[in-house]
Amino acid sequence: MTDAQTAPDGAPGFAPRVFSGIQPSGGLTLGNYLGALKRFVAAQESGVETLYCLVDLHAITVWQDPARLRHATREMAAGFIASGIDPARSILFNQSQVGAHAELAWVLNCVARMGWLGRMTQFKDKAGKNRENASVGLFAYPCLMAADVMVYHTTHVPVGEDQKQHLELAREIAIKFNHDYEVDFFPVVEPVIEGAATRVMSLRDGTKKMSKSDPSDMSRINLTDDADTISLKIRKARTDPEPLPGDLAGLAERPEARNLVNIYAALADITPEAVVADHAGQGFGTFKPALAELAVSVLAPINDEINRLMADVAEIDRILGDGAQRADMIARPIMERTYDIVGMVRAR
Ligand code: AMP
Ligand code: TRP
Repeated sequence: MTDAQTAPDGAPGFAPRVFSGIQPSGGLTLGNYLGALKRFVAAQESGVETLYCLVDLHAITVWQDPARLRHATREMAAGFIASGIDPARSILFNQSQVGAHAELAWVLNCVARMGWLGRMTQFKDKAGKNRENASVGLFAYPCLMAADVMVYHTTHVPVGEDQKQHLELAREIAIKFNHDYEVDFFPVVEPVIEGAATRVMSLRDGTKKMSKSDPSDMSRINLTDDADTISLKIRKARTDPEPLPGDLAGLAERPEARNLVNIYAALADITPEAVVADHAGQGFGTFKPALAELAVSVLAPINDEINRLMADVAEIDRILGDGAQRADMIARPIMERTYDIVGMVRAR
């Protein structure tokens, strides 16, 4: 594919290229699997060029234990492969091995405005009340994220709902760069947020996102959980005493029930409407075991594969290194051209 081709939508003049990233700041959850990984695999299967990045530089915007970060990065790579990412067809790598991400992030730090970053809800949430004490990296996080996608001239970015604001900022940054330097160099990315599970909620609180950083392990299903643990967590998931209604409208005020229906739908690749139609009138005493059985049937093989891959860490490191080399071949010329546009002297 060449840059002269036209993407079906989004960024005219740029060949379609998909990029997405996940922070290796913990293990993968069912939220990551349904909201991100499953869709990463679908993009790979559609035949477009796909890059998937373990964003270790983003992870250290809050302190990480070095040994745990290294372990989580490898385990996450294993989770990607076990979920169907084929490192021969997708480019799978960790961010710090491709220097252009941090290089472009610096340039974009100089394009983005303080006010834009100060409005980011993820920063406000993560920094909490004591903003003065947040790392500079946490504040600049969205510029590094914009660099991740822009350094490959990415056109499409599959993410969950929570990343929408960051991608809107990435669009603003690309537009401002092109405008300030009077070029048409960076494509304006399209966020791809779709499917039943763009927001998988906590099993303990249907109003909170399922997250690897939640202090309660019962709030999430990890891709590394075994079958018994998955069943237990679903059995213990918070619900209400009502049976399932016959249509989705009946779930409007029932966030926990709605969440379990959405999870079922996403795991079974059917619509939430079909789930309620099939299970109308069932109480959770019947629905939860059905959901647990489905979850185990999808997740147990992934868990087995992660364990198999983690037995050979050297092979995982080799795959990430190979991915980084291939990523660098795309990013380096774009970075060099960027330096050129902004007026840096480069020895050739
Ligand atoms: P993170 O784990 O926050 O680095 O997120 C990695 C990717 O998974 C992003 O595309 C998120 O939007 C997605 N993601 C994380 N948690 C969830 C969730 N609970 N539901 C849906 N998508 C999620
Ligand atoms: N910020 C994203 C998250 O926490 C991770 C991420 C970093 C990302 N760079 C990206 C996602 C580029 C998509 C594209 O989920």
